[in-house]
Amino acid sequence: MSRPVRARRSELATPASNDWMFEKAARSGADLVFLDLEDACAPAEREAARGKAVTALRELDWGRTTRAIRMNAIDTWWAHGDVIEVVTGAREALDVIIVPKVRRARDVWWVDVLLTQLEQRLELERRIGLEVLIEEVEGLQYVDEIARSSDRLEAIIFGAGDFSASQGARVDTNFDPVLPYPGDLWHYARSRVVVAARAAGIDAIDAPFPNYRAPEDYRVACERASVLGYVGKWAIHPSQVEIANDCFAPTPNEIAHAEKVVAAYRESEAGGRGATGLDGMLVDAAHLRHAETVARKAALLGI
Ligand code: GLV
Ligand code: MG
Repeated sequence: MSRPVRARRSELATPASNDWMFEKAARSGADLVFLDLEDACAPAEREAARGKAVTALRELDWGRTTRAIRMNAIDTWWAHGDVIEVVTGAREALDVIIVPKVRRARDVWWVDVLLTQLEQRLELERRIGLEVLIEEVEGLQYVDEIARSSDRLEAIIFGAGDFSASQGARVDTNFDPVLPYPGDLWHYARSRVVVAARAAGIDAIDAPFPNYRAPEDYRVACERASVLGYVGKWAIHPSQVEIANDCFAPTPNEIAHAEKVVAAYRESEAGGRGATGLDGMLVDAAHLRHAETVARKAALLGI
């Protein structure tokens, strides 16, 4: 079954217990908003938050925003209740479920089977999609099989916060001027996730950036992730949304250049040749693929 294609430049987290934040989230301009039943909710509030999420999903005007929840991990007793209660209450007003702390393909399979049963019983007209968080070292070890575990799976998110804890990284030393880790502490994990996602034909989304008072640092983090092949990044505050939307969209220059590359390659092809040149730069089949990716992104975003 083919997956829906969605924009995911920004994925805004909103605690599902904090209903006073929902209106602002729905109007934030984020490509995807998820109401979080997991770590942003106090454990004592997680069950009550399900009903709040259902009301918001059904009643707010979400415009073009993809509506999601983050459920609790499948090794917690909340997991089945999160899926059953929210899907039964929200029905078609829920587009995507984010599954945290996925370690093996069978974790995704468990959610997939539960959703299939619910969709049949409720006679839903649309399938609910999945995204998973890779934020356990074991999840990273099995990321290739996780990426191919379900045809509902649309994206993999790298969760640097939990991943740091899972790896036992001394993240504080990374900010110590005497002992800084050179480069990106998470380069290996980030690369591993994006390669697995691309190989499975799905999106890779970059980690949350905890300091919401550092917009310029957030922008740099977005740009680095984008260079690596990530299509978007989490936002933990509405003020981060616009930055992510901007960074992960192709620029007018990139789009214009991509169009020139396609035209140059096609002309060369029509003349019975392959590689050609454009403004002193080689244009071959690899450049064509790159240009087509830019064009697809622009079309998806309507720019
Ligand atoms: C996200 O959930 C993270 O742990 O970074
Ligand atoms: Mg986490």
